[in-house]
Amino acid sequence: MQFKGRDVIAIKDFTKAEIMHILDEAEKLVPAAKGTTRMTNLEGRILCTLFFEPSTRTRLSFESAMQILGGGVIGFADPTGSSVTKGETLADTVRMADAFGDAIVLRHPLEGAARLASEHSNIPVINAGDGAGQHPTQTLLDLFTIKRAKGKIEGNKVILLGDLKYGRTVHSMAYALAMFGVEICFVSPKGLEMPREVIRGISSFGTETRETHDLAGVLPEADVLYVTRIQKERFPDVEDYLKVAGTYRIDIEMLKKAKSDLIVMHPLPRVDEIAKEVDSTPHAWYFKQAFSAIPVRMAILKLIIEGDAS
Ligand code: CP
Repeated sequence: MQFKGRDVIAIKDFTKAEIMHILDEAEKLVPAAKGTTRMTNLEGRILCTLFFEPSTRTRLSFESAMQILGGGVIGFADPTGSSVTKGETLADTVRMADAFGDAIVLRHPLEGAARLASEHSNIPVINAGDGAGQHPTQTLLDLFTIKRAKGKIEGNKVILLGDLKYGRTVHSMAYALAMFGVEICFVSPKGLEMPREVIRGISSFGTETRETHDLAGVLPEADVLYVTRIQKERFPDVEDYLKVAGTYRIDIEMLKKAKSDLIVMHPLPRVDEIAKEVDSTPHAWYFKQAFSAIPVRMAILKLIIEGDAS
């Protein structure tokens, strides 16, 4: 398997075997991610983090992952502190990062920005979210979380709940779950259904999929409930957002209808779609999911910067 120098733009750029290899590597890196061992694999290497949109988990976990591997980090968390404010293009900004570092992590509000960046860079570009497009490294850590919780990815029934129209994590996740033959149920408020091109894109895998607006009707069968927030910032009209805001909320009462070993996931940040009371139940996996970001992003950085002999 060849990982060295590769971009990470969309989950479909990776085979199932490659995804499993990344997850296996991540498993080996858990002790280091927990701080019990020190690593020097990426000593002298530099990661450039270019964040044109806000982030807590993705940016901090990439920075943490790089530092645990012995590398350094440069970049910006907000483009207002960069020469973008003087009119510099994304292509030129990327060319600079290419000259200064060994890999680029890019978050940008425009769909396709990461693919464009990769065309202007000789070093690997990692898509950390491009508008309502894709968030492939989130998907890898989501798969890692399911594997850790359930022992395997295949054979689970997964509900993707929430803003399936604008939520990029669910676009990547739907593709990956279909690749693994997972039965997927899409549950959204009216008007926020999964885009038809995503449904068409996963149909070739022959996976069983279902769409509904009725969560209560499908919850009892689910093994994984993947909740997402409504992406307020992507609505062209705030009035449209207000029509769907608060239309679903997971609480303890609702979870009484679920399997006792159902896991509730969420890429975070959450707004009000999971009640705080759920946090202390065995269903709550979203904070463990957030921790998975460290070993998984360590594995990605190690594989694409250092390479892999297998
Ligand atoms: N899950 C996720 O992408 O979180 P951030 O927006 O905080 O990076």
